[in-house]
Amino acid sequence: MKYQIAKALLQLLWLLLLSPRLVLSRVLVQEPMPVAGPRPGCPSMCGDINIPYPFGIGDGCSKNKGFAISCNNSYNPARAFIGRGFEVKDITLATGEMRVFTGVAHICYNSSNTISSIDSWKYDFTGSSFLISSARNEFTGVGCNTVALLTGEDMEDDGRYLSGCITTCASLGDAADDVNCTGNGCCQTATPEGLDTVTVGWNTLATNTAWNYSSCSTAFLAEKGWYNFSLNHLDGTGETSFHKQLGIRTVPLVLDWAMKKDGACLSANSTRVHVRNGLWYRCKCSDGYAGNPYVVGGCENIDECKLLKSDPETYGKQYHLPSGSKCVDTDGSYEVKCNFGRIGSECRLVFSATVAAVPATLVASLLLVLLRKEHKRRMRSGFFDKNGGQIMKSMNMNTFTELELENITNHYDTPIGKGAFGKVYRGTTHENLRVAVKRSIVEGMKPSHDHDLVNEIAIQFQVSHANLVRLIGCCLETDVPMLVFEYVSNGSLYNVLHCGSTPRALPLSARLDIAIGSAKALAYMHSHGGRSLVHGDVKTGNILLGDNLTPKVSDFGSSKLESIARHANWCVMGDMSYIDPVYIKTGRFTQKSDVYSFGVVLLELITRKTARYGNNNSLPVDFVKSCKEDGNGRMMYDRDIISSDGDAHSPRYVECLDQIGMLAVRCLREDKDERPSMAEVVEELIQLKFRARSATSCKTN
Ligand SMILES: *[C@@H]1O[C@H](CO)[C@@H](O)[C@H](O)[C@H]1NC(C)=O
Ligand SMILES: *[C@@H]1O[C@H](CO)[C@@H](O)[C@H](O)[C@H]1NC(C)=O
Ligand SMILES: *[C@@H]1O[C@H](CO)[C@@H](O)[C@H](O)[C@H]1NC(C)=O
Ligand SMILES: *[C@@H]1O[C@H](CO)[C@@H](O)[C@H](O)[C@H]1NC(C)=O
Ligand SMILES: *[C@@H]1O[C@H](CO)[C@@H](O)[C@H](O)[C@H]1NC(C)=O
Ligand SMILES: *[C@@H]1O[C@H](CO)[C@@H](O)[C@H](O)[C@H]1NC(C)=O
Repeated sequence: MKYQIAKALLQLLWLLLLSPRLVLSRVLVQEPMPVAGPRPGCPSMCGDINIPYPFGIGDGCSKNKGFAISCNNSYNPARAFIGRGFEVKDITLATGEMRVFTGVAHICYNSSNTISSIDSWKYDFTGSSFLISSARNEFTGVGCNTVALLTGEDMEDDGRYLSGCITTCASLGDAADDVNCTGNGCCQTATPEGLDTVTVGWNTLATNTAWNYSSCSTAFLAEKGWYNFSLNHLDGTGETSFHKQLGIRTVPLVLDWAMKKDGACLSANSTRVHVRNGLWYRCKCSDGYAGNPYVVGGCENIDECKLLKSDPETYGKQYHLPSGSKCVDTDGSYEVKCNFGRIGSECRLVFSATVAAVPATLVASLLLVLLRKEHKRRMRSGFFDKNGGQIMKSMNMNTFTELELENITNHYDTPIGKGAFGKVYRGTTHENLRVAVKRSIVEGMKPSHDHDLVNEIAIQFQVSHANLVRLIGCCLETDVPMLVFEYVSNGSLYNVLHCGSTPRALPLSARLDIAIGSAKALAYMHSHGGRSLVHGDVKTGNILLGDNLTPKVSDFGSSKLESIARHANWCVMGDMSYIDPVYIKTGRFTQKSDVYSFGVVLLELITRKTARYGNNNSLPVDFVKSCKEDGNGRMMYDRDIISSDGDAHSPRYVECLDQIGMLAVRCLREDKDERPSMAEVVEELIQLKFRARSATSCKTN
């Protein structure tokens, strides 16, 4: 009977509320373009609440305004707020959920038809990335003659929703004192899906026949399972009434968040998961990885073995490890290594007879000890052989032991550079010769064919040119060889041109010498004994300057035989600002790709601008444009070049700069066949230098 009345009442209310359309204000929050991760130095905590990206505190720290958290430090601990004043309880990346504290709605009567106080609660997440999670929340009403209403609108704006629940109890004793809300003093109902605006309110037209034993009713939208009903929630009045007890920082509401529009998950080993009818997405670390998929490098390998060791109970179910085996962690997974004498995926004993087991283990452990010793001894020479130590020796190349290099570099205490190939450390040999030791750090860089590597080192050892950094020797005992180079004292051309508060004066002649020297080195590489090499990473940062600013081209550690580079599978690790667009299009790196990069170097020499300068401008693009429009790049030349040589020569110098600019533009041609060869570049630069020095005009003809 009771329920039938309730149902009829709700239906009536439904009609009442729907006919005059509810007008709810909508404020659309414009979503700015997504940015690529947080800026460095963003705080990760507010008080004791973890704030992971896409959320963030302060400018440039959150993915967009909608994920901005304001942290109020006047509380202890500090409190985090989001959107229109919701206090954040916690954020869960893995599920895309966030808990906020919400208020409660109440209505109190001081006679059956006089409302003494009333409060409703509105949640408006319109235009934001948040929705009220239907799976994780439920709507609750508490009271003895209560009609609690839940009205809402869904995201697509075409649905209005009315729900609610009714509780009755003829007297307090009649209410069921149980944790389950079944309509006797307490009622609960599910929340519909996809709501972004919800109001918890009351039917104020009704009278309250229970006012003299349960004067107040309370309603809230809260996390499922959070609320446990109790009889004493019904009978309070004034300050003891239930809604006052709950207060404003108690009731948790679960919000569901996601990203709109197409965006990428920044971390490697992560995937996009489409949600909300595929219109929104979230990121998830791949299996075997955990962390924050929204930032670069956020998903990190899970060390399953460590977890198994720390808590076999919990993780044993998840990660199976048969008895008699050892766990070995791998990137994204783990491996099961059977102990000695066991085989198969379940690591069963080879000899099942227990009789044999005792002597067998004895023998086995003895053997193991011996094998380990032998293994260690062989490991070093093993790498040595694998890396072609014999070939190297036959070439009379200096070979260093691992220990020697450690001494030379004083335990790698002075890093002087970092390249695509690894890190570079300064060292001093026994003969007091200063050297640079290049140590590969990235395992992924390990060439797939060791034979290739030996070949490369051999080639590098054979190429010898005054303008190439000389390879002195190598160490082949480590898995990836370490290379020892001559030490070049004056830093890189990049540093000389672009760094330092007072830039070093560089007259045109010095710049031409640097250009000629480095061009010669590249021309030499390109024509080396019929086996042409490409450099692969020509840039001012890789042109080192020795005594008297003699240029020495370095980092040809990534150089290859052109025949190898022509295959698309060679991945150039070069600087994007210098890379030949033809290579990007075709995946084929040729000598003319080095010529392109050298064109950029020439432009840096005459403009003293970096390859990317100002507000992300591209030097080659801007210079070529300037030449097309004005016939030359005079607007962009480095002023110092002219003044440092005295004004008397400047008209002629400007002409010389024009010529260098034109040569650079030819190096940058889109059609690689129209680009000059490095040998031709050398030739032209030498002629230019000659003309710049003589009194004649720099112009040809
Ligand atoms: C932080 O909280 C205090 C106390 O409620 C309030 O007075 C202050 O305005 C808040 N500060 C900000 C920045 O919201
Ligand atoms: C009931 O509450 C209302 C509003 O607070 C007040 O105006 C009225 O006088 C109260 N009636 C009684 C009987 O206390
Ligand atoms: C409450 O509900 C749960 C699950 O529906 C049930 O197992 C439990 O027995 C109920 N408790 C009472 C007191 O009815
Ligand atoms: C509540 O008021 C009704 C009349 O409105 C009366 O019959 C009932 O006894 C009262 N109950 C209590 C507990 O005062
Ligand atoms: C409700 O009961 C559950 C289980 O007993 C408990 O974990 C939870 O904290 C309780 N909720 C509140 C608000 O007391
Ligand atoms: C994880 O990402 C790294 C870097 O992109 C990749 O090399 C590796 O293969 C990935 N692991 C798996 C299991 O996909």
